[in-house]
Amino acid sequence: MDVNALLKKMTLRQKIGQLTQYNAALFTDSEAAVTGPAKKLGLSPEDLKTVGSVLNFSGPAEMKRIQDEHLAADPCGIPMVFMMDVIHGYRTVYPIPLAMACSFDPELVRECARMAAREASASGVQVDFAPMVDYVKDARWGRIMESSGEEPLLAGIMGAAQVSGYRGEGIDRPDSMAACVKHFAAYGLAEAGRDYNQSDCSERELREHCLPAYKACLDARAKLVMPSFQSMNGVPSTVNPLLHRVLREEWGYDGVVISDYNAIGELKKHGVAEDEKQAAQLAFGHECDVEMCSAAYFHSLEELLAEGKVTEEQIDRAVLRVLRLKEELGLFEDPYHGADEERAQSLYLCGEHRALARRAAEEAAVLLKNDGLLPFDEGIKKIAVIGPFADEHGINGSWSCRGRDEDTVTVRQGLSRLLGEDRVIYAPGCEAAGGCEGLDKAEAAAKAAEAAVLCLGEPQGYSGEGNCRTDIRLPGMQSELARRVIAANPNTAVLIFSGRPLAIPEIDEIAPAIMQLWFPGTEGGNAAADLLFGRANPSGRLAMSFPRSVGQCPVYYDHTSTGRPHFTDRAEHRGYASDYIDCAVLPLYSFGHGLSYSEFIYEEMTLSSHELKSGGAIEVNVRIRNNGRAGSEVVQLYMRDIAASCTRPVQKLIAFEKVHFEAGGERTVTFRVTEEMLGFWNFDMQFVTEKGDFELMIGYADHFVLRDRFRYV
Ligand code: NOJ
Repeated sequence: MDVNALLKKMTLRQKIGQLTQYNAALFTDSEAAVTGPAKKLGLSPEDLKTVGSVLNFSGPAEMKRIQDEHLAADPCGIPMVFMMDVIHGYRTVYPIPLAMACSFDPELVRECARMAAREASASGVQVDFAPMVDYVKDARWGRIMESSGEEPLLAGIMGAAQVSGYRGEGIDRPDSMAACVKHFAAYGLAEAGRDYNQSDCSERELREHCLPAYKACLDARAKLVMPSFQSMNGVPSTVNPLLHRVLREEWGYDGVVISDYNAIGELKKHGVAEDEKQAAQLAFGHECDVEMCSAAYFHSLEELLAEGKVTEEQIDRAVLRVLRLKEELGLFEDPYHGADEERAQSLYLCGEHRALARRAAEEAAVLLKNDGLLPFDEGIKKIAVIGPFADEHGINGSWSCRGRDEDTVTVRQGLSRLLGEDRVIYAPGCEAAGGCEGLDKAEAAAKAAEAAVLCLGEPQGYSGEGNCRTDIRLPGMQSELARRVIAANPNTAVLIFSGRPLAIPEIDEIAPAIMQLWFPGTEGGNAAADLLFGRANPSGRLAMSFPRSVGQCPVYYDHTSTGRPHFTDRAEHRGYASDYIDCAVLPLYSFGHGLSYSEFIYEEMTLSSHELKSGGAIEVNVRIRNNGRAGSEVVQLYMRDIAASCTRPVQKLIAFEKVHFEAGGERTVTFRVTEEMLGFWNFDMQFVTEKGDFELMIGYADHFVLRDRFRYV
């Protein structure tokens, strides 16, 4: 399709239509839509015929009907593009992105994204509003569940893996989707962890922590960018100069920018536009090409053009971006993009997808504590499974698209399948956030079994968009339940289900074993059973620190040094240090932490040289031995710049590799340290490398087992 020629044939109204997106509801029942939601938006039936894209539709049949009706009505015959939030699976749900990041396994993330793309594209989704790679460090914010955690390098790698998985062999293929990276920029720094709240972020914070992951996704060929809702450094992201200065000019991005839901409509409430017309002028002026779910462009672009406040070239440029996307997706040849009900049905929850979701749930789980209790022995006669999440199907997590709770395997079901129903005693104990009538029964169940699995957490509706918390402890009576159950049976392993790191110091104190399952998705219960009984060996490592209390938030591993560092040993505390009088400084579990049933011994780190010359590299070899059963270790390399012109992080992850070891196996893992890894943004916001000493550390944040130094000369 010659999109330039097509553009020439289009009327202004048709062009504006391409720059808008509305919910499928506006196209489902034309009568109701025109008198209902479309009327509310001030859109005429003629306007609806020109709309360029649709979000949130129910499946291939609806998508095809909308597309057919549209093509029959649109004189230019431009297909619509169908978009949706496919965040961690479509019908087969895999763990939430924060959990997936804990796998430290980009290939697994890519495979899961492919699986999502296969199901979603067969169902009519052509563009996915993912990955979300916002930098996060505050556990109160509900949307951290959608992120890859607090480390920008990890977030970028995981984001790029998602983009590549969605894309597959190319976005024109019937089993692929184009990725829309979001939310540009610094949405995750919403003050006080309150969604949609402003973020105030220094340029250093932006450059070092926020921007790299978006860039990594664009390098992996994400096709769209979505600015965030909130205002960043005083200006809402939809109209923030950053869009132009960084995205378009610095990075040379010439793809589609699509607003977030009603974000242009909200510019008036933000107090940066007097009215809808000014909102349209500002957003369009900042090259936000497509307006999602408000109608400022429809209402005002024509008038703005007539007044010379926007130009025809600007409109054409934006429309061309949209047309090029449609062309790349192959929509002019196949406006359904291969969507097919039968194919979709054969993919949903198929054996291959369930197996992958199970492996993902196993790899994403993090064994936080184990005093030798786990793994359990399969010879066990009776096991009690207790707690509000023991038989809970609602463990898919927020944004689980077309996933259904009833398809999800609970822990009780997983254990019953593994051991047989007669060996599993079940007692809910209490509700997740309410009544506690079952405490006595739970205690009795724990006493009647050789071991207990206590399933605690926060309901899935406590995280996700708009679901922030000021109290990140276990809700309701769950801590009391834990005290009673663990006292009744000391062989109790605690499983935690949550969309964020919870503050669980009281559980850490009394439980002999704790495993973080996050929201594990469709195969959660089977994965839990495998992990508890050693059929799977835990290999997840935390992508986000676990605070001891909400008062520590934000707590993150790569904080900069201070002139008065805290004392690791609380007994040494003498005041006037950067610490608290009522709480330790370090998180309960640091970034990178995670135990295994294997025993990995770090024997030696050797450097190819103790001098790094400009343009050169150092090879770092780390020898590791597995003293136990087969399992995987995440080998993590951190760096500290000893003295620089700006304060630098006390530890910074610069490379990692997930490595599988056979029982008793030995491996040498090699990393390359390059000059670029030493660089940082100096006071004048130039990216520089400065000569001097650097320390390399192996282990995980705050807990290193091997160290060495080199000099950059
Ligand atoms: C609002 C969310 O912020 C965004 O992430 C999502 O893609 C849109 N709604 C569309 O559902």
